[in-house]
Amino acid sequence: MSGLSTKHLLGIKYITADDINLIFKTADNFKDVLNRPIKKVPSLRDVTIANVFFENSTRTKISFELAEKRLSADVVNFSASSSSVNKGETLIDTVNNILAMKVDMVVMRHPSPGAPVFLSKHIDANIVNAGDGTHEHPTQALLDAYSIRERVGDLKGKKVLIIGDILHSRVALSNIFCLQKLGAKVMVCGPPTLIPKYINTLDVKVEYNLKKALEWCDVVNILRIQLERQTDEGIPIKYFPSLREYAMFYGVTKELLQSLKKDILVLHPGPMNRGVEISSDVADSDQAIILDQVENGVAVRMAVLYLLAGKLD
Ligand code: CP
Repeated sequence: MSGLSTKHLLGIKYITADDINLIFKTADNFKDVLNRPIKKVPSLRDVTIANVFFENSTRTKISFELAEKRLSADVVNFSASSSSVNKGETLIDTVNNILAMKVDMVVMRHPSPGAPVFLSKHIDANIVNAGDGTHEHPTQALLDAYSIRERVGDLKGKKVLIIGDILHSRVALSNIFCLQKLGAKVMVCGPPTLIPKYINTLDVKVEYNLKKALEWCDVVNILRIQLERQTDEGIPIKYFPSLREYAMFYGVTKELLQSLKKDILVLHPGPMNRGVEISSDVADSDQAIILDQVENGVAVRMAVLYLLAGKLD
């Protein structure tokens, strides 16, 4: 296979297992580049990329910017909080104004699910979804799966558990699609109020007891509670009595991991809430590959941008 099946990365749902494996193979090469004294290649010279972020980000924003600069792209950064969006400009007008300055690709984070799909139907540039509300976060899922594969090999048949706020998590949905396309078995675990009703359409196992779920898996991906999304028109909704109670029933601790008869691999996409969904002694343990995920994120995003640039009109 010579290239990706798509000119955008809107979600893992819209790409194939061949696309994912091509991204991983390309990321392997870029990981070698990143371990050299000179970490830069000229692959995207003359390509201009706009990072358009309508929502907060630490890891994804820095990771994309570094990936773009390592590929020698020209980079412009746009943050909604300091833009004319606050003066009533629409998403399409904002992006078309950026594109009028001869931008080739747009990396976008937006609070509304479907915003990147909508944009891809109205503008010519290649779009990369850097997280759209509760919908998808495809590059996070790619870097998570890439990091698992690096430690345990082929994902086919591996058992991966995702714990936490599945209802509000774009990382959960993208991970489910990605892991299943690679042949892994997926289980989700969390309070019943944070497991979406549509979960039974996704062919994943559901377990509400954390100990039983951990006993089943080879790998666990621990998600944070997304309090900022647990609202109805700005009014907070309580999905569980307190963070303290959540930590008691769904927090992953060293004691719990030591009670298992095996070592499991621990991932967390960040940002972490230490002492809530994960204890510090787990987050900082040898079982956890949280900073490896961040490191691999740059190589995986370089691969995505490089392959999509091959699809520029
Ligand atoms: N994992 C992740 O998306 O983190 P940021 O929100 O900091 O980008």
